[in-house]
Amino acid sequence: MSQQPPHPRRQRGFSTHCIHGGETPDIVTGASSPNLVMSSTFTVDKPLPFSATGMDSDSPYIYSRWGNPTVHQLEDKLCRLEGGEACQCFASGMGAVAAVFLSLLDAGDHLVVSEVSYPGVAEFARNTLPRFGINVTSVDTSDSAAVAAAMRDETRLVWIETPANPILRLTDIQEISGIVHQHNAIVAVDSTFATPVATRPLERGADLVMHSLTKYLGGHGDAMGGAVVGPTEIINRLTKEAAIHHGGVLSPFNAWLILRGIATLPLRMRGHEEGALEMATWLESHPAVRRVLYPGLKSHPQFDLASRQMDNFSGMISFTVNQEGRIRTRMMKHLTTIHYAVSLGHHRSLIYWLDTDELTVSSYGLTGDALERYRSIAGNGVFRFSCGLEDVGDLKRDLSEAID
Ligand SMILES: Cc1ncc(COP(=O)(O)O)c(C=O)c1O
Repeated sequence: MSQQPPHPRRQRGFSTHCIHGGETPDIVTGASSPNLVMSSTFTVDKPLPFSATGMDSDSPYIYSRWGNPTVHQLEDKLCRLEGGEACQCFASGMGAVAAVFLSLLDAGDHLVVSEVSYPGVAEFARNTLPRFGINVTSVDTSDSAAVAAAMRDETRLVWIETPANPILRLTDIQEISGIVHQHNAIVAVDSTFATPVATRPLERGADLVMHSLTKYLGGHGDAMGGAVVGPTEIINRLTKEAAIHHGGVLSPFNAWLILRGIATLPLRMRGHEEGALEMATWLESHPAVRRVLYPGLKSHPQFDLASRQMDNFSGMISFTVNQEGRIRTRMMKHLTTIHYAVSLGHHRSLIYWLDTDELTVSSYGLTGDALERYRSIAGNGVFRFSCGLEDVGDLKRDLSEAID
């Protein structure tokens, strides 16, 4: 865990934090770029506790599962970008999600989770948590009344993802945080699609913000990681219970790559947004396309909320088409610039088909009204397009080969 130290230049701007946050020239060599400390263990010169329970925030480095200087630099930077007190990184986004669920929920507690989300989160919540005696309700978190109705005395945590995978549904963080806090529960936001360039959930009243660093923050598709930012007291629990005892810590090498990725985050997000807006507008007028979902389009059902809550509309577009089977085959065969692959937020454009039957049955377990709500938006499925930073003309030419 890294806590945000009092810093004389804390008032620096966001882009400056992306570059300098958590970093200083090396005190021994003067190296301007961050050192990569791969050491798993550290020499000590005084007796120190061997148990994580005896560790405090100013303990020296002992063992890299407890804390590592390169990972701490990244955690410090993330604190500054999200405006949080403390941060703990994990080996992946799912590592961060599991840390929150398993460290903060006890048997008998109740979790409210968004009915649409990254499928791994939905599957973990629906399939794994009940085995530990945790009760789970999934709701449409874009509907505040539905969230209010789902709250119980035992509700400890409400999990939001905004914009949410894969239909880019938004949740009003401020409104939901208000409701949840009335019930003495906490709100955690998966802000992977938005990034701190677009939305800083803690400023809007959320208690925790989680990122898959594998996506926009790392930004180059070469390092997996996850992070949770929030109050010291909660992050401390994640460090001791999840990082140290479950053990899914971030590799210092990945932290170093992600630190480098974040240096250009504001520039990249500008590029992602610009490209995505042009691609979404082009797709909307394409005869083979039925519907385009992009928070920056006026046709998005929550465009007003997106304009209020997002300082950047990010680079994720989902769209439905008329002949999905034929188009999917053509994509896998003919795309040359865009990679037909899962994941998102990389400098390379990526596209993937997300099938409604598969998601709603295996991942979300949607039935009745919830299933109809999903189908009315996604039809048989959506192509989820993560607009990269290539020339937009090349992206249009590439997609035209598959969808014309
Ligand atoms: C919104 C969101 N949250 C969490 C995750 C999980 O992150 P990771 O793949 O780094 O474990 C993903 C992965 O795609 C995601 O898209």
